[in-house]
Amino acid sequence: MHISKKSCIFAAEKLQNEKNINNPVYHKTMTKEQLIDIFKQRFPGDGMQVYAAPGRINLIGEHTDYNGGFVFPGAVEQGMLAAIRPNGTSTVRAYAVDLNDEAQWDVNDPNGPKATHFRFVYGVSRELIERGVAVQGFDTVFSGNVPLGAGMSSSAALESCFAFGLNDLFAEGEGLSRWDMAYAGQATEHKYIGCNCGIMDQFASCFGQEGKLMRLDCNSGEFEYFPFHPKGYRLVLVNSCVKHELAGSPYNDRRRSCENVAAAIQKLHPERTIKTLRDCTWEDLQEVKSVCSAEDIQRATFVLGEKDRVLAVCDALVRDDYEEVGKQMYLTHAGLSKDYEVSCEELDFLNDFAKECGVTGSRIMGGGFGGCTINLVRNDLYQSFVEKVTAAFEKRYGHKPQVIDVVISDGARRLEAK
Ligand code: GLA
Repeated sequence: MHISKKSCIFAAEKLQNEKNINNPVYHKTMTKEQLIDIFKQRFPGDGMQVYAAPGRINLIGEHTDYNGGFVFPGAVEQGMLAAIRPNGTSTVRAYAVDLNDEAQWDVNDPNGPKATHFRFVYGVSRELIERGVAVQGFDTVFSGNVPLGAGMSSSAALESCFAFGLNDLFAEGEGLSRWDMAYAGQATEHKYIGCNCGIMDQFASCFGQEGKLMRLDCNSGEFEYFPFHPKGYRLVLVNSCVKHELAGSPYNDRRRSCENVAAAIQKLHPERTIKTLRDCTWEDLQEVKSVCSAEDIQRATFVLGEKDRVLAVCDALVRDDYEEVGKQMYLTHAGLSKDYEVSCEELDFLNDFAKECGVTGSRIMGGGFGGCTINLVRNDLYQSFVEKVTAAFEKRYGHKPQVIDVVISDGARRLEAK
């Protein structure tokens, strides 16, 4: 399917995508020391703390989080860095290095700043206040290196960075748990950005651990760390560097379709408790075919299939059966493209091309409508795949895709002084 070129899933990414369709790394990776220097130029003096939080990848389990299903993410080395220092007033003064943009607002202001990158900071601080953290005024400078619009969740990195940092600086006693921080980030998306996202991205950014993927049951909140060191294979992202979407709405539409189907099944079975599609079976789906729209049924078909695929991948990983993992990834791509309709021409091209090259597994990663594919590639194929896909994509679309090696890394943290 082909969606016309619009903007992106997260409004914060819009500005940068429009400027950088061919060059998603809009800004350079900044060290903690460089960030501190910039902070000191704006806000002289010492005593600031620096916090980091990552973006994420997801091996399998797409659009399952808000359906109460399983996801299988890990944090990546790319992320957001923020230097923060309380300033003893009720004013927040913020500078977004990568956009060279500044803003200030009062912590008690019910409206907050307009620019999306600052709304994330504002929203998180409001959500922390709601959770009992006495956030006061602070000065901050922040910068990130998660490619924007790639589906690697630059927004969760920003939210988790401030959730962790502001909790560290302002909470009394034990403060918030990592779960509270993740929920504060998610609530920021819902209430201040307009994207009704699930919990996967914020969870991964808050709980990530080096070298480990996490299988999260979004229904119960239980999760398990899975050391991920596939022998003979590596994970690589191929970023199409395009994003086709009107901010938030198609994502929210997909979610609504799933909720419609779950509600129809609940209506038919008042004796059961159907909170999400997680509580539904293939038989249930058959039963409501005549009362739901064909489109809603199609979306739910993908979600039920994806629920099974995550579990199949977990079993395969236990057996070190990477061929099976890869097979499930291709099935996910097909479902995301045909039933969930969140792919686009460029991503289908990348997926087909990976298959032709003999790549073990490949699929769209993240919300969709552009961004990147995640590929499980045999070591012996890696170099030739990267070269071939880069050349073929450039020939067809006029710009090079960005190849990103996945390094599974730690979640939100304070960077200690060296
Ligand atoms: C976005 C959302 C997540 C999740 C994915 C799709 O990244 O933020 O909650 O729904 O899309 O799996």
